[in-house]
Amino acid sequence: MNTSFGIDVGGSGIKGAVVDLDTGQFMGDRIKIATPQPATPEAVAATVREIVDQAQWDGPIGITVPSIVKGQMVLSAANIDKSWIGIDAYELFHRHLGADRHISILNDADAAGLAEVAFGEEKAKTGQVIFLTFGTGIGSAFLMDGRLWPNTEIGHLAVDGFEAEHQASSAVKDALDLSFKKWAKRVDRVLDEYEALFNPDLFIVGGGISRRFDKWGKHLTIKTEVIPAGLRNKAGIIGAAMAVTREISP
Ligand code: BGC
Repeated sequence: MNTSFGIDVGGSGIKGAVVDLDTGQFMGDRIKIATPQPATPEAVAATVREIVDQAQWDGPIGITVPSIVKGQMVLSAANIDKSWIGIDAYELFHRHLGADRHISILNDADAAGLAEVAFGEEKAKTGQVIFLTFGTGIGSAFLMDGRLWPNTEIGHLAVDGFEAEHQASSAVKDALDLSFKKWAKRVDRVLDEYEALFNPDLFIVGGGISRRFDKWGKHLTIKTEVIPAGLRNKAGIIGAAMAVTREISP
């Protein structure tokens, strides 16, 4: 069977599972450990190691980080410890997981977007699609007929003077205890700006809060169609696992 291990490093949890690369299904349980605070490279890599050990996995591993990843270098750190900036991620994870382990690193939203193309919504495969994840931050993957333009970071675009993710991430909803309706108004304003600047055919929204899309999707008023991700918040792990064997990492 064609399997790999995917790990999604998020602001609040680090999650991993064995993924069947033919179907995109998890094989066995998903393992989740709270993200260490501060989320330094060494602390995160040690947690990744713990997850891999718990799963008793000795094959290839794909890892997402909530950062710009170019080559093997991590170039940004909005919601993890700033000491990630400039880190050689291959050196870091090889040191923790074994020098001859096959490892791949990519941005979390890019991984999720690619997984959605492969195993999620059919509509993700064609046209100009902006895939967004709402979680601790707002992540983005720009997809053109299923092909990725990696490392777009429109969660940091200023909307009415403030970064989009500081206004409309799902962490902001929690922090301010906003109702779905009030939070959806903020998301709507952000999407309105994205629509005006990028004119996609479709927005697909992922992240944990996409599971509750029925509660907030109806309050959106933008012209462009918005649909929840077919894979909901599993996409990051699946995309991480896919990156290892399909050479789709940026
Ligand atoms: C980061 C992105 C990431 C997104 C979602 C943003 O703050 O800059 O790289 O994809 O959060 O985690």
